[in-house]
Amino acid sequence: MTQTETEAKAPAKTVSLEKLLKDIDSIDAIIATWDEGQRATIHALKMALGDLNKEALARLIKTVKAEPAAMPALKQALSDEVVYSVLRHHGLVKPSLHERVEEALASVRPMLAGHGGNVELVEIEAPAVAVIRLLGACHGCPASELTLSEGVEKAIREYCPEITAIKKAKGIGGGSSSGNCSTGEQPVHFISPFARADDQNWTFATSLNDLPEMDMVALEIDGHSLLLSRQSEKVVCYQNACAHLGMPLDMGKLENGILTCPYHAFQFALDSGECLTAPEVQLHAVAVRVQGDKVEVKLE
Ligand code: FES
Repeated sequence: MTQTETEAKAPAKTVSLEKLLKDIDSIDAIIATWDEGQRATIHALKMALGDLNKEALARLIKTVKAEPAAMPALKQALSDEVVYSVLRHHGLVKPSLHERVEEALASVRPMLAGHGGNVELVEIEAPAVAVIRLLGACHGCPASELTLSEGVEKAIREYCPEITAIKKAKGIGGGSSSGNCSTGEQPVHFISPFARADDQNWTFATSLNDLPEMDMVALEIDGHSLLLSRQSEKVVCYQNACAHLGMPLDMGKLENGILTCPYHAFQFALDSGECLTAPEVQLHAVAVRVQGDKVEVKLE
């Protein structure tokens, strides 16, 4: 057997994507030290080679797609990180669902960060359910339902219309959990960052002094039945409806911050709205803020 035949039969060495990219980076670093004319020539060469590769790959994919029996093999090839990265680089495959959900979350992070919160993608459950987790100040915040529905869900649905459902994972991920979405300086508490973009449509609910500490008050405002509670500086507001069957909660028993529904004894942590009996549900939070002595709510 000749040396060339031996080489042809030897199994191809697998080089990682990381190693390949590192090699490119080190050559780029050398080129960056060259003069402008040389850099322009190299840039033109890179573009021409890129165009050539893109055209060849596009024709290859077109040929494979014309043969339905070959589609599983193409899908298999796309699960290879090098193949996928090169095709993505040339714009020949769409970003994966995972990547697009990440893009959607990246688009809302600045808004959440302004309130000390964050969000992470936990997983994509087959076929198209995104499981996310609110982090930092958003975790356990009474306004987290609003944050999820108004901001995070909207972004995910915009970037990934094929997502059929969005689930909120329980538990704490990275970041701390203060349970307060306020920015510290502002006398505003538990407002979802997506609750409003302006200062409009706040309705006076009651004065702070009329909210007894560690107790709750039921109010009817513009046809909305609300439950407000205050713990020191924090004021929370929920729809006065149990997360079980929607029965009013204001006649429930409140002990050590735990509200027990008078109908079937579901229990809720009043500072966060979380249901202790069935953790997958929680009280429906209503945006609330404290302005001086005034407690204001934002009704949908
Ligand atoms: S309605 Fe509240 S526990 Fe059933």
